[in-house]
Amino acid sequence: MTETILSVRDLSVTFDTRRGPLTAIDRVSFDIHRGEILGVVGESGAGKSVTGSAVIGLIDRPGRIAGGEILLRGERIDTLSPEAMRRVRGRRIGMIFQDPLTSLDPLFRVGDQIVETLRTHTDLSGRAARTRAIDLLAEVGIPAPERRIDGYPHEFSGGMRQRVVIALALAAEPELIIADEPTTALDVSVQAQIITLLKRLCREHGTAVMLVTHDMGVIAEAADRVAVMYAGRVAEIGPVAAVIAKPHHPYAVGLMGAIPTLSQEADRLSQIPGSMPRLTAIPKGCAFNPRCPKVFARCRVERPEPQAVEASRVACHLYDAAAALPFPLRGGAKGGADGTITPDPAPPPPSIPPRKGEGRIAR
Ligand SMILES: Nc1ncnc2c1ncn2[C@@H]1O[C@H](COP(=O)(O)OP(=O)(O)O)[C@@H](O)[C@H]1O
Ligand code: SF4
Ligand SMILES: [Mg+2]
Repeated sequence: MTETILSVRDLSVTFDTRRGPLTAIDRVSFDIHRGEILGVVGESGAGKSVTGSAVIGLIDRPGRIAGGEILLRGERIDTLSPEAMRRVRGRRIGMIFQDPLTSLDPLFRVGDQIVETLRTHTDLSGRAARTRAIDLLAEVGIPAPERRIDGYPHEFSGGMRQRVVIALALAAEPELIIADEPTTALDVSVQAQIITLLKRLCREHGTAVMLVTHDMGVIAEAADRVAVMYAGRVAEIGPVAAVIAKPHHPYAVGLMGAIPTLSQEADRLSQIPGSMPRLTAIPKGCAFNPRCPKVFARCRVERPEPQAVEASRVACHLYDAAAALPFPLRGGAKGGADGTITPDPAPPPPSIPPRKGEGRIAR
């Protein structure tokens, strides 16, 4: 097995709001290995960006890490001081966001920004840093880099600016890159180029990448493994080809049905009715239970824990060996004692009103 670069263990993030604490991510676990791209996918509000922000130590008040641990090459980073974490960011963890101008200062030439990163985080300075900056711009496909190095961010197109951000993220040869919706703001053809570039660079440099996106098409193109998030939890995680070909979790099944393919069966085109619950109204038991076509009594009472199913890990009672046991398994549970895992004949409609502006995964 290749070296584990990032290890996230039972991570929970809570926002302390006036109306009480909101759990945005709830016991999330995953690993990313050297040279591997882990796609993190899910609807808006699923907790993808909060997970990425937690890894780079940028959860600001009223948010806080309420539990779990984050390890970079086996070393806890969630407990570092803000100053130590600032050094980790940029040097050991690179970042790419949806808007390149989050990373680039519009007032400075792009070359100066890369040189500054090299001076801060590596031993390079002066002419050597400038030469390295030109090499980096060439590596990310900026034409005439020895000239463009003296350009300002506004002189670059959106796609070229995102390439500069990738050069900046790679400058210190980080072990891990967190890319949060890196192509969402770009035209489709440019998206494909940026994804191809990220994939190539990750392989060549052995960089581990956490690729956050709402777009399963991007995951299918770029990722080695995928974590499907729902309501702040990981519903299923596994090799991308396996999860696309044979998703297990009912939410993942619905999600994969939304990726158009030429040979698609008609029933896989069906989308998931309803919407994700508000953080203030996460249903008891499985968070997906109000929308799940396979829901059964246990799902409304007991939270499913992730377990190995073929090459994946799936948090769903359908795959729990204990599902074959008579229900209730825990004290206080009502009904459903027939011991079957047959889906309820008519699952109740989602009890949680849709949140404005939210719906199914957009492509
Ligand atoms: N500063 C904040 N205060 C309160 N809640 C927040 C804050 N930032 C994010 N959240 C909540 O955390 C949840 C997950 O958000 P996020 O990770 O940004 O979702 P996404 O999967 O779309 O990236 C959302 O429901 C959001 O409302
Ligand atoms: S645990 Fe139950 S409600 Fe949740 S996804 Fe599985 S079958 Fe559906
Ligand atoms: Mg997000």
